[in-house]
Amino acid sequence: MADRIAEEKIDEVRQAVDIVEIIGDYVQLKKQGRNYFGLCPFHGENSPSFSVSPDKQIFHCFGCGAGGNVFSFLMDIEGISFQEAAVKLAAKVNIDLDLNLSSVHTERKASKEIQAMLDAHELLRKFYHHLLVNTKEGQHALEYLLERGFTHESIDKFQIGYSLNSWDFVVKFLSKRDYPPEWMEKAGIIIKREKDGTYFDRFRDRIMFPILDRHGNTIAFSGRSLGAGEPKYLNSPETAIFHKSKTLYNFHQAKTSIKKLHQAVLFEGFADVIAADRAGVENGIATMGTALTDDHIAILRQNADTITICYDSDNAGIEAAYRAGNLLTEAGFQLKVAVMPDGLDPDEYIKLYGPEKFQKEVIGASHTWMGFKFLYFRRGKNLNNEGDRLSYIEEIIKEISKLSKAVERDHYLRQLASEFSLSLDALEQQQKQIYFAEKKNAASGHTPVTHKPIIIQKPAKELKPAFHKAERCLIAHMLRSRDVAYKVQELLQGNGFNMDEHQAIFTYLLGFYEDHLESGPSAFLSYIQDENLRRTVADIEMMSINDEVSNQELMDYIKQVLNYKKLLKIKEKEVEQKEAERQNDILKAVALGTEIMQLRKSL
Ligand code: CTP
Ligand code: MN
Repeated sequence: MADRIAEEKIDEVRQAVDIVEIIGDYVQLKKQGRNYFGLCPFHGENSPSFSVSPDKQIFHCFGCGAGGNVFSFLMDIEGISFQEAAVKLAAKVNIDLDLNLSSVHTERKASKEIQAMLDAHELLRKFYHHLLVNTKEGQHALEYLLERGFTHESIDKFQIGYSLNSWDFVVKFLSKRDYPPEWMEKAGIIIKREKDGTYFDRFRDRIMFPILDRHGNTIAFSGRSLGAGEPKYLNSPETAIFHKSKTLYNFHQAKTSIKKLHQAVLFEGFADVIAADRAGVENGIATMGTALTDDHIAILRQNADTITICYDSDNAGIEAAYRAGNLLTEAGFQLKVAVMPDGLDPDEYIKLYGPEKFQKEVIGASHTWMGFKFLYFRRGKNLNNEGDRLSYIEEIIKEISKLSKAVERDHYLRQLASEFSLSLDALEQQQKQIYFAEKKNAASGHTPVTHKPIIIQKPAKELKPAFHKAERCLIAHMLRSRDVAYKVQELLQGNGFNMDEHQAIFTYLLGFYEDHLESGPSAFLSYIQDENLRRTVADIEMMSINDEVSNQELMDYIKQVLNYKKLLKIKEKEVEQKEAERQNDILKAVALGTEIMQLRKSL
């Protein structure tokens, strides 16, 4: 066997692998024309400048200049040698390199020490799991977990285990297998006693959650005390193989689902990730009891474009969600925030209300980021109190000022206006004022100036005829459902809406449904060119309506729309009738009178 890989073997591998597929394991790629684009894994960025060419089988980043072929990509991203990259790729496409593999291992950067740390973790993971599920010693721990709602299935899937109530079981277990205690101490598994240099087990009588890296290696443990023992969770320390700030719990298993959905759900605790997985949410991850870091964000950015934050709904959780949300939106994610009632955490919620309610009413009913901020700033305020109300409104306007899209700003200003019966004009003015003030401050580096207080006015509410509301309700339902749109079209029997603006939206919407299979409010908003119509649509989107609309309800609205037309007709006829009477054309006046009567009857 050779120590070097033959040139023709390298060519064979190069031709057999597809660079898009290989890079796709690390970077979320989207096809655009002939090439694929994504966020560069070699530098932090918010908009994709990393491209992969399937024709040329190369990659290139316009941002940081990284580039190369499939071999150099693997070498750079994994920190491995050329030979190791070749071995990996060859294995993927089943090519025998005819190579003496031990020569590859001598080149490995990972030292024996690192390998021993990983091996020991692997061994302990299996052992802890065995203790939990098969032994009498672990029985009380297993009962505790089952009592808490964990299933046998999830205990297996997450390889949960139990560490014995012993000071030296692991010390002996590993030294019997020739793992040097100094290395095991560095791995964080055992601890050295100052006084006599002997060692003892770090984890004793705890439920053991193994922490895996993204390749599935066990790199650390988190041990939960049974009952009230402190600390509740005891984690492995930082080691050569475990860095809290770069580790996301369950990322290894969640990755497939995250990539498929382009979405991840971020939880606070392990128990939440596991409960959510049981409830069918397989793209859940959690940090290791720490705040979200740039490294976490970079990992997520390569795999998802939407994050749903699902933290505990106690005060600490809501504050943490607000902080994480700010970081994530800055990093360019679409954000959702799932909020549970009554200070519950996801695990408790699922246990109380079951998986379906969690999927539908928590994850499915997530707030937008701005929607969450409406709730966030409201906490601890009494909005019946004028001072609280004003400061709330001002905080929200500040947040609205940060939005880059005019349609969105408009949308939320309207929401605010309608909620507090404020004039939209005044809110818009205030918002612009805040925007320019902040811009000026940013430029000069000054602390914020105080703004003029908001002018609270009662909105000049014109009295709108009944059909106005009915038309808006119909549009609101048609925006949510294609079927309702077609049904309304049918029920109107060729008649249109009375308001020109509404009729225009109706026409656009039918066109949109014809052209687009996928729909959704923001897609439709970008379909409409006219700024004023967009505003009206955004306004209508904000109406609170029921999810479902009954036929009866639709008929009632339609009736109001059509009645208005009849009322106009009646007015017209009445004028004609007056004119006929004036001209003494009695026959005509009587005929018109009959017509008017019939019209009135049909209302
Ligand atoms: N945590 C930790 N050390 C602690 C407490 C918590 O590292 N002493 C971390 C753990 O990662 C935990 C997360 O913070 O999963 C969330 O903590 P908490 O909400 O207190 O725990 P739960 O996830 O609710 O755990 P349980 O349901 O088992 O009480
Ligand atoms: Mn909990």
